[in-house]
Amino acid sequence: MIGSPEKLLKEALDELQRASARDEVLQIKAKYLGRKGEIASLLKELGNLTGDGKREFGESVNRAKARIEEEVEGLLSAILDKEKAEKLEEERLDVTLPGRRLQLGKRHPVTRIMDEVEDIFSGLGFDIAEGPEVELDYYNFEALNLPKDHPARDMQDTFYISEEVLLRTHTSAVQPRVMEARKPPLRIIAPGTVYRRDSDITHTPMFHQVEGFMVDRNVTFSNLKGILTLFLHRLFGEKTGIRFRPSFFPFTEPSAEVDIRCVICSGTGCRVCKGSGWLEILGAGMIHPEVFKSVKYDAEEFTGFAFGLGIERIAMLKFGIDDLRLFFENDIRFLRQF
Ligand code: DAH
Repeated sequence: MIGSPEKLLKEALDELQRASARDEVLQIKAKYLGRKGEIASLLKELGNLTGDGKREFGESVNRAKARIEEEVEGLLSAILDKEKAEKLEEERLDVTLPGRRLQLGKRHPVTRIMDEVEDIFSGLGFDIAEGPEVELDYYNFEALNLPKDHPARDMQDTFYISEEVLLRTHTSAVQPRVMEARKPPLRIIAPGTVYRRDSDITHTPMFHQVEGFMVDRNVTFSNLKGILTLFLHRLFGEKTGIRFRPSFFPFTEPSAEVDIRCVICSGTGCRVCKGSGWLEILGAGMIHPEVFKSVKYDAEEFTGFAFGLGIERIAMLKFGIDDLRLFFENDIRFLRQF
């Protein structure tokens, strides 16, 4: 019994019509067109036929085969198109959606004050210098007229790395370093981080200072007063009251502490100025001849003044911050306020 190509074609087209997924179509393709498929077995029957019958049968099998191929290809390409369209739809970008905002950082109040101090002194012709935070005992103490047994070393509790190496307790250590490396005239400010073994409400083990000094022939205490008055007026406002008080530092003689009128109560007395109406803002003085001796400057030829100030303290006063610890928590809600 010889199979019917027409019947086979009809079955194949029926099946294809019901197929929707690629796999189904491929299965049907294999079933009819594969090497061991229905068309192939029809063609095997050709050997049993002869003459016109063989020719007609052959032609009709080939027509059925071509028709099935055409239908399969058509279906496959339709499925491919559909899949592409679905994928595009899935990946579609809505360019009108609002973007995600970048969280902008803010400059830390300590950095802001540092920059402001640097700007003011740059404008007065001062250069910026830096020194190491891990410092030699020599530059931090000895060269500043603080020999090993000097009682004033107790003023600064120190983190020691070894006998001779420590974390610098003040930016004054930059003074002898710069003076050793350069000759007067010098006008220098040295901002940086300093460390002390101290931790409570008003002290942190790390904080920031700016050191400044000027060395030349004929530098006098009036130059010191003039420059620092100008600086404090720029920083806190032209009307700020200023006073110089005698004080002691081993590396200056004479030494002074400089106060400004309380920025909180304008001098009537409050908690911040502890009722005195004044706020201590910096230490200063004429550079001690012993310091010049350590750096081999001739103290007869050159004189100079130096000063040092704490940045956190100034930032607290300028921005009205009442807790030192806020500076080091890096809470973005705090930093955003500046
Ligand atoms: N180094 C001092 C301190 O850490 C501050 C200071 C006082 C610096 C007087 C100076 C100065 O240059 O002349 O407290």
